[in-house]
Amino acid sequence: MAEDDRVAEHYSSGGLLDALNQRLREDGVDPDHPSLQELAPYDHFHGRGLEATDELAAMLDIAPEDHVLDVGSGIGGPARYMADRFGCHVTGIDLTHEFCDVAHHLTRLLGLQDKVTIEHGNALSMPFRDASFDGAYSMNVSMNIADKAAFYAELHRVLKPGAWLMLSEVAQGSGGQVEFPTPWARSAETSHLSTPEATREGLAAAGFEIRNMRDTAAEGLAFGARSRAMVERGEKPPHRAVQLIHGDIAPAAMANSGNAMKSGSVVPIEILSVRQA
Ligand SMILES: C[S@@+](CC[C@H](N)C(=O)[O-])C[C@H]1O[C@@H](n2cnc3c(N)ncnc32)[C@H](O)[C@@H]1O
Repeated sequence: MAEDDRVAEHYSSGGLLDALNQRLREDGVDPDHPSLQELAPYDHFHGRGLEATDELAAMLDIAPEDHVLDVGSGIGGPARYMADRFGCHVTGIDLTHEFCDVAHHLTRLLGLQDKVTIEHGNALSMPFRDASFDGAYSMNVSMNIADKAAFYAELHRVLKPGAWLMLSEVAQGSGGQVEFPTPWARSAETSHLSTPEATREGLAAAGFEIRNMRDTAAEGLAFGARSRAMVERGEKPPHRAVQLIHGDIAPAAMANSGNAMKSGSVVPIEILSVRQA
């Protein structure tokens, strides 16, 4: 099986929309009329969910007339959030067909189809013209991409000179081996972690000037502790996307990524850079 197919298989269940609708009903939400806030526990599929999207957005300077690219857009929570918060147009691209289908459905339900466009495709060969976008972000996607140099070069190609690039990723730490499954990979075969230093160097070599790099391990660990305390009190934790998307393997995937963060095997980072001319 090709690498792209293995990655898409990891994220596909064939029953995602039914499972989401069931979860929304359990939350007391009409699945045909959810709000952005009611979907947020499920459609921000990265560490700390909406909390992380919110913090990332606060670091970006986006104008309503900007065209923003979301690379590896998942089921579209971050893209809809950015369009709603800034009034900008967001184009998302994702490898997983089922995610693109669910993203189209939810975007239409929220009436954001004029602001958010989702396309199926690979981050390594995007169907966009050179210098199309004013900015791009990619949240928890690069861990599935082996050829980082090709990824950064493709981002550089589609961004306008001076455009910003925000990457959030789970980086390789110095604490030893990662156990699988994790939320991003079922085995080491599709997990391609880069160290923070290698990411910084790779971006610079591709023509990006690094403006800021932030390690969010402390926030991730605190969020995990708060969520576990809520579960112990019989409450629903704020971020439920991994359980929705990964079903049976979710408990092991979450425990493995939590342990990896605690031991320093992985470190979540956010890197803001600017595309040089
Ligand atoms: C952990 S999910 C994050 C989804 C989304 N960024 C979010 O935060 O809600 C990783 C996503 O990356 C996508 N992905 C992985 N490799 C990709 C590639 N080469 N090109 C496009 N999308 C990719 C997967 O299909 C999946 O939707």
